[in-house]
Amino acid sequence: MNVVNKLAAKHSALPKLVQQDNFVGWTYQVGFDAVKVLTNDAFKRAVRGIPHNAFLVATSFDPEKFMSVDEFEQEVLLLRVVGSCPLPHDNDLTRIKVDSAQAIKDKFEMVEKTTDTLTQGQIQYGGLECRILGTFYMQDGVLHLGSDQETFSASARLRVFRPKGEALRLIVNHVDPTRAAQAEELAKAAGMATMPEPIRIGDVRYTSTARLHRAQEEELVPVTIFPQDFLARRTAVLGMSRTGKSNTVKTMVSVVKGVADKSGVKIGQIIYDINGEYANANQQDKGSIADMFPQHTVRYRMVKTPGFEEMQNNFYRQVVEGHAIISKILSEDKANKAAGDVEVFLNASFEEPDQADVGEHNRWQVRVAAFQALLYKAGFEAPENFKVRFKANQGVLDAVKKANASCKDPSAGLTLDDAIDWFVALRKANKESALKSSSGKDWVDTETDAILNMLVNQNKNGIYIRGFKVLVPARDYHSPRRAQEVGDEVYAHLVAGKIVILDLSVGDPTLRERLSKQIAADIFNKSMGTFITGKTPPNVMIFVEEAHNLLGRGMEITETWPRLAKEGSKYRIGLVFATQEVTSMHPNILANTENWFVTHINNANEVKELAKFYDFADFSDSLIQAQDVGFARVKTLSSPFVIPVQISKFDPSARQ
Ligand SMILES: Nc1ncnc2c1ncn2[C@@H]1O[C@H](COP(=O)(O)OP(=O)(O)OP(=O)(O)O)[C@@H](O)[C@H]1O
Ligand SMILES: [Mg+2]
Repeated sequence: MNVVNKLAAKHSALPKLVQQDNFVGWTYQVGFDAVKVLTNDAFKRAVRGIPHNAFLVATSFDPEKFMSVDEFEQEVLLLRVVGSCPLPHDNDLTRIKVDSAQAIKDKFEMVEKTTDTLTQGQIQYGGLECRILGTFYMQDGVLHLGSDQETFSASARLRVFRPKGEALRLIVNHVDPTRAAQAEELAKAAGMATMPEPIRIGDVRYTSTARLHRAQEEELVPVTIFPQDFLARRTAVLGMSRTGKSNTVKTMVSVVKGVADKSGVKIGQIIYDINGEYANANQQDKGSIADMFPQHTVRYRMVKTPGFEEMQNNFYRQVVEGHAIISKILSEDKANKAAGDVEVFLNASFEEPDQADVGEHNRWQVRVAAFQALLYKAGFEAPENFKVRFKANQGVLDAVKKANASCKDPSAGLTLDDAIDWFVALRKANKESALKSSSGKDWVDTETDAILNMLVNQNKNGIYIRGFKVLVPARDYHSPRRAQEVGDEVYAHLVAGKIVILDLSVGDPTLRERLSKQIAADIFNKSMGTFITGKTPPNVMIFVEEAHNLLGRGMEITETWPRLAKEGSKYRIGLVFATQEVTSMHPNILANTENWFVTHINNANEVKELAKFYDFADFSDSLIQAQDVGFARVKTLSSPFVIPVQISKFDPSARQ
């Protein structure tokens, strides 16, 4: 290479993509979308084979003479081997192969011996079908990759190379300069002190059989992801059981944490941990996310466990939620069909009315206090020093006192024991003569009346009803320790940049779903609220395992989870969802998913669905056939095509 060419090559990344030593053949048919490559066994052998789905590059220029290359030719096509294709004279050669095989007398004799050298040479040739992934070219001194081919010469016979090492590294880690600039701006806007660096997640792997192309450590070409692709974006992690989805999710959590730490920006992360594998280390995989970031992780569970916060709400304080859970449990208990007072209670509303409507607001306070007394009667552990307070007019106070002389004025606060006595007395007084409010309405409304009957296990005619006992099965769903609504508390942790793990591996599935949804809705609504008031919402990443349960196909797009997936981006909420089946996911969410990690899929139907997205169709066969753990086909926002990657095993000791 002369000096001028050396200089040109130094200033252009283009010649670096073309490695003369890795020559594999020529194109013999070129179109806009695909090319056919003529190669032979000797060329293949020299590059240690050409695996299915391998990247190839094709160009007409000689990298040694790059300076003198005509401008028209200064481009490199990026190809993917998608199959083999016949050569024009293949039929003749097949006949020769069959003839010579039949001519063999001794089964140990080599077939080659029966063919002449010229034919032998011809037999070695074969065709490769390649799809064009794009065109590399230089603009303003920067390497660009267009996602197609602009023009082609019918007469061109491009030379084809199998990129390895540095050339392959450049290809698989290429980030479009426009996208890089945009990401830099976003990073600045987010207050990041430094631009997040690309992070290695694994290395290139073409086929399950990795005897040659991944044999030597130095042949492994790292694949990096651009962390900014994931913030406020949607990421799908798909594949059969035990093929490494959770491993990928763990890697991402740690990548995001690393970015937050290095850039000095808080990024809250919340993991819906269905199997408890992020909250606790398991036998096979030592070290969990919680072990790795002990100072930055808050774990929640539905049962009281040391080291975990409780996910349950406090029914005494989150009255609406508590009542809703009781209703849900009772409605599912077919054996106990609610009737009479219980039915009235279940249909009651505990939503706070407008404070301006004084009469209605007072009635609501009485109803809530009666409900709290009922909870206590049913054995729901009360928060410490809990008191109920509400106002009653003089007529009511006098009547109650007449029924039970020890009853005090509730406006000064009543303990729950006193509240039970008070309401029992109220029921008695009200039965004797209906108590009225100052406006002449019944002071004890229908709903409160039903609660009072339940408190004493009698209907208005004094006949036994199951009353407060129907609440007993809901006791597990209540936690007396929580002062704040769980969603508020979780959100505060996220704003502080913590990793919140909801360990959903224990507890009732129905409750799990309810609470999960409630927390997701809280995150969405709070961030949306911040956004609407013109402020910047915090960066939040939500990781969901077994996502089909929450983001399933049949869901209305207006439901919490699909909305979060669809609109979350606007409010800086990123979503990573892992599931086994492509078809089980909400199609609208898939259509809006920017990043994809796909491991083994076991049936044609699923692959067909996946093939609708990007260039995943190139991997349809390989996805079904190759069952290797961590062998993923990865498409990220910054990369215009799918890259086959062996994902590295998550290593808790190697913090990003
Ligand atoms: N890239 C990898 N390299 C090596 N081992 C891996 C890799 N990914 C996962 N594993 C191991 O394979 C096993 C299964 O991985 P993982 O739990 O991530 O799979 P999964 O797809 O989440 O499974 P499931 O559908 O059951 O949740 C684990 O023991 C894990 O350590
Ligand atoms: Mg998993």
